[in-house]
Amino acid sequence: MEGNDAKHRKVMRKARRKRRSKMSFNAAIDGPAGAGKSTIARAVAKELNLIYVDTGAMYRAMALYMLRNGVKPEDTAAVVENCGRVDITIRYEKGEQVVFLNGANVNPYLRTEEVGNATSVISVIPQVREKMVKLQQELAASCDCVMDGRDIGTCVLPEAQLKVYLTADSAVRAKRRYDELAAKGQPCDIGKIQRDIEERDSRDMNREVSPLRQAEDAVLVDTSEMTVQEVKDRLIGLCLERMKAMEA
Ligand code: DC
Repeated sequence: MEGNDAKHRKVMRKARRKRRSKMSFNAAIDGPAGAGKSTIARAVAKELNLIYVDTGAMYRAMALYMLRNGVKPEDTAAVVENCGRVDITIRYEKGEQVVFLNGANVNPYLRTEEVGNATSVISVIPQVREKMVKLQQELAASCDCVMDGRDIGTCVLPEAQLKVYLTADSAVRAKRRYDELAAKGQPCDIGKIQRDIEERDSRDMNREVSPLRQAEDAVLVDTSEMTVQEVKDRLIGLCLERMKAMEA
């Protein structure tokens, strides 16, 4: 492990020196809900000393604003009208992304099923996406990062050095979500979770603006039968390979 860490650091240092005045290293990870994107992206970023950008959290903060202010996610006109009142900023505290909604840290409120489902509804709205994409592109230009979402490889960072499409069978994803919620002591019904996941997939994949799909040059990783460690190792390998290619 020591050996690996030292090797990773060496590749990173060399890559950084070579491109000092050039572009930053960006890895884009897209895929459906529950494929393990955030767990993997966070772990890879930590291992390689990159910034982890969770774009789902930005959309979730926007949805949280709507829910808190009595705006129905399905009421597109009202969401668009309220969009201008939403200011989302990102900071990093002890290596963790913190999302500020109109100046207040909302991290603890973003990961509920209610917010997740509302987010999928409002994220089909072009005005919402424009605002988020701009923020994400600014972040990526300013640092070496691993960014996860639905449209990162296809729309936000089409020039990313690495694009990965991470997926898994919907029953496997539902079971993972169920285990996560059960571990937190939150009551849940696995059948409903799977139905919600499939509904969300269908909405994310079939929306008009930036639908979820694999970029042509993305590497497909199906995690249905892989452990977290196996997926992590595969992605670290891919990042290091692309960093080396940047040096050349
Ligand atoms: O990754 P997540 O579960 O936090 O995402 C919540 C919702 O946000 C998801 O249903 C689709 C939307 N989303 C999006 O449209 N584009 C992104 N880049 C990230 C998330």
